[in-house]
Amino acid sequence: MPHVAERLQAWRDAGLGRTTVDFSTGQHPVSRVDGDDRLLFSSSNYLGLSHHPVVVDAAVDATRTFGTGSGGSRLTTGSTTLHRRLEEELADWLGYPDCVLLNSGFAANLAAVTVLADETVTIYSDERNHASIIDGCRTARSHGAGLVVYPHRDTAALRRLLTGRDTPHGLIVTDGVFSMDGTVAPVAELVDLAREFGCRLLVDDAHGIGTVGDGRGCAAPGDGGRPDVLVGTTSKALASEGGFVCADRDTCDLIRNQGRPFIYSTAASAPTVAAALAAVRLVRTDPGHVRRLQATVRRVRQGLGVPGRTPIVPVPVGDEAEAMAVADALRRGGFHVPAIRYPTVPRGAAILRVTVMATHTDDQVDSLLAALREVLPGG
Ligand SMILES: Cc1ncc(COP(=O)(O)O)c(C=O)c1O
Repeated sequence: MPHVAERLQAWRDAGLGRTTVDFSTGQHPVSRVDGDDRLLFSSSNYLGLSHHPVVVDAAVDATRTFGTGSGGSRLTTGSTTLHRRLEEELADWLGYPDCVLLNSGFAANLAAVTVLADETVTIYSDERNHASIIDGCRTARSHGAGLVVYPHRDTAALRRLLTGRDTPHGLIVTDGVFSMDGTVAPVAELVDLAREFGCRLLVDDAHGIGTVGDGRGCAAPGDGGRPDVLVGTTSKALASEGGFVCADRDTCDLIRNQGRPFIYSTAASAPTVAAALAAVRLVRTDPGHVRRLQATVRRVRQGLGVPGRTPIVPVPVGDEAEAMAVADALRRGGFHVPAIRYPTVPRGAAILRVTVMATHTDDQVDSLLAALREVLPGG
């Protein structure tokens, strides 16, 4: 297919080609990647729970009881007692009346945004939202919803845009912890704006849950108001796979009835659900997991001079080819820290995306800091 080959070549010529790397171990601080042992600073297994014996045992027990695949969507054969328990546990922990579990965070955002935003709704979406929110917005727009993209975390600009709304309803959507720059959405201000302008607020805290605050993320229950809808994923700090939407019962039931990724995709299998359930219970009962992560995050951020409190630490490089060269130099030095390039981040704004795990030792962190000083341009 010459058309496909030409497009692929043009993509590669622009320095944007991608390939996978193969792990022959789990996501440990020292992992075996493409046959070499490397210090891993790019996994979202933030709490290191993917090998916790309680989590592994839960997955193994569930495999023995339920087998491996779920055999159908949530509405056919794919819902087990474990799915129900995990939904109840997440709703209780995160403080919402209901929770609906989907098979990925991507599916959760796609379902939530497309179900909530019909033609009476204008969506207000942060310009750096995750691709799954963007795709949810695009699908909703193709069904008649309005779409306004606002500058990153800029509540003054958002206020001006909200003032011009000409649809009966509004939906503000934002990442909680932004997946590429590790910044945190101004949730309290967004809650206030949503109230003032009669909108609903959806926060996707895929990277905040299990990492920020007491583990309930950047939109945790507190003195202020809450987002109407909280999306999360069990595939990062919760060490498994799956996504969820916490909200009022009607919103969750509408997703169960009309959310295409819920209805038309095979459910997460029981072992993955059991693993997530065990991980949530560990985070709820032992604050040590989150505290250890947060201490390591502080060490990395201080060492790199990057302010913030989340385990995603962006190291700016800029030029795409330069970022690839730096990532390659790190690889040769025994580290796995991928470069992130367009279209994941804007053109010319490539970064190294360092992520921190609770299981990293201080020595491992210090050797990363030393290696970065050596390989970064001007470092
Ligand atoms: C902010 C955000 N939302 C949603 C997702 C999708 O989650 P999942 O990987 O479970 O599909 C991701 C990550 O990949 C993410 O970074």
